[in-house]
Amino acid sequence: MQIRNWDDYQNNYQKSVEDPEKFWGEIADQFIWKKPYKKVLDWDFETPSIKWFEGGSLNITENCLDRHVKTHPNKKAIIWEPNDPNDDGLTWTYQELYNEVCSFANVLKKHGVVKGDRVCLYMPMVPQLAVAVLACARIGAVHSVVFAGFSAQSLADRIDDAKCKLIVTTDGAFRGQKEIPIKGIVDEAVSKCDCVEKIIVFKRTEQYVSMTAQRDVWWHEEMENASTDCPAEEMESEDMLFILYTSGSTGKPKGVVHTCGGYMVYSHYSFTNVFQYEADDIYWCTADIGWITGHSYIVYGPLLAGATTLMFEGIPTWPDAGRFWAICDKYKVNQFYTAPTAIRSLMSKGLEPVARYSLNSLKVIGSVGEPINEEAWRWYNTYIGKNKCPIVDTWWQTETGGIMISPIPNVTDIRPTYATYPLPGIQPILLDKDGNEIKENNVEGLLCIKFPWPSIVRTLYGDHERLKQTYFSTFKGYYFTGDGAKRDTQGRYRIIGRVDDVINVSGHRMGTAEVENAINEHPWVVESAVVGYPHDIKGQGIYAYIIPDRHIESEQAFIDEVNETVRKEIGPIAKPDIIQVVSGLPKTRSGKIMRRILRKIASGDISTLGDTSTLLNPDIVEEIIEKSPMIKK
Ligand code: WTA
Repeated sequence: MQIRNWDDYQNNYQKSVEDPEKFWGEIADQFIWKKPYKKVLDWDFETPSIKWFEGGSLNITENCLDRHVKTHPNKKAIIWEPNDPNDDGLTWTYQELYNEVCSFANVLKKHGVVKGDRVCLYMPMVPQLAVAVLACARIGAVHSVVFAGFSAQSLADRIDDAKCKLIVTTDGAFRGQKEIPIKGIVDEAVSKCDCVEKIIVFKRTEQYVSMTAQRDVWWHEEMENASTDCPAEEMESEDMLFILYTSGSTGKPKGVVHTCGGYMVYSHYSFTNVFQYEADDIYWCTADIGWITGHSYIVYGPLLAGATTLMFEGIPTWPDAGRFWAICDKYKVNQFYTAPTAIRSLMSKGLEPVARYSLNSLKVIGSVGEPINEEAWRWYNTYIGKNKCPIVDTWWQTETGGIMISPIPNVTDIRPTYATYPLPGIQPILLDKDGNEIKENNVEGLLCIKFPWPSIVRTLYGDHERLKQTYFSTFKGYYFTGDGAKRDTQGRYRIIGRVDDVINVSGHRMGTAEVENAINEHPWVVESAVVGYPHDIKGQGIYAYIIPDRHIESEQAFIDEVNETVRKEIGPIAKPDIIQVVSGLPKTRSGKIMRRILRKIASGDISTLGDTSTLLNPDIVEEIIEKSPMIKK
């Protein structure tokens, strides 16, 4: 299934469009199925209802583990690099990982977890997180990984929405020089939910934690006598594999649901092709397993391919800004996959931290999560890839499950800042505002996909109607991505960014409404409006306009309190970069906030505000501009 040259790509692409069922059927046949599927695809984008490989049954962990244990048990599966470079790391072979996963699957079973139950994983980047993910899949439990930077309130909302009955967590987490109390956050979250019966705690930092009798147990004690023999549960192709919450344009996060068969086929297919993985390569994705990138390209994709996947616990700038490059040299990393925000942040530290390392093992370098700007692209290409490693600028989403548009190294051509061509099986189109397809090249439009691929989102947990409204109703018959894109004269795509109220801060996806809801929890806030603005390192920063209900004596003290409120409600990643206290917000006569105007002011550009005279309160625009820190006076 690995594409090797341009002709190959074109043939595969054509075949995937002309006869998708034959194309994906042949790929699916390369996996272990417990029962063969009867029909490759059944779909309509109206309901919407999308079913891949119906009638087939499988267990994804047999494809990630058992089959590799048979052929190469001693190959390294996971290499783990700890936060502190002076601490011992850890390596698990496929056999060792298999044993860990089966043992932990038995622990889950012992605590009453059965097929279909939801299990919440709230853990930092320790290898036990990958084990917990796979152990859930082994017994057919649905994992819901929550990024360990989210607050107790956000965690509680996600636990409650999915009605998780068990949580796997750690005592604490190391991040750079910080030690974070993970279990304490879980305790607070669980006090707000009544579905949780058990908490399993992996000891990482050895800090003090309180353990509730009957409810809380230690990972290491449970694992002591657990058997390494755990048969893989038989799953229907369309049974749920996992839920992953992501932000949308309304306040409540969406539980994106992926299912077993299609996700398996596509995460493997895309991994193999985009990274051109070869048998002895060491592959490293710097994402956190709390996001979709970690699910598909740290855990499932690489393990399905029998690859060696590296997991890193720490941060790029500690002990110094050379850490990523030190790790690349230490393990002779061949494929390196990171986010533009990390590149920009390291770029700002100068060349000295890079110059200390050879980086000569690298073959392919990648980027994901947000548009990469030209300057960062060139720096990455020159100093990290040394002009010899193709950069794969991969466009995709939590909802797409896998990479959709990306260069294929040494197969398709590269154009800086362009995600370029769709992978075989992916049929992107551009629409104008009225929903008409723009057929020619050298154009810009709204990015939609016109045909299902195996890892497309199947539903939003507990809210199928929202799935329909969000992705399938804006333009009838198409999946709408929420992104705007350009297509150049050669048919290559460049993703411009979101056209809805979703912002992308340091590669973290956030809904402006979500941040507003958090800010509004402060008792003095009457109303707020949050917009994104261009930020040198983060890509987008968060700019909040806030109307308080009283005269504010000390603005700074108030801003600090609002920040603290957001930290508590969502987590530190959602803290606004700029808070401006205002006496009103520009509104239309029907009372709608004119975000377009607020976005312009936040970006420091007031030359094209347009006609503001039709606003309900035109004077407010002057006041906001007057006090905005972004407008040079
Ligand atoms: C953005 C992350 C430009 C896009 C895998 C998308 C990108 C959102 C790129 C999904 C890219 C992701 N170029 N923009 N290469 N990759 N995006 O769900 O706006 O966290 O809709 O998935 O990130 O973010 P999510």
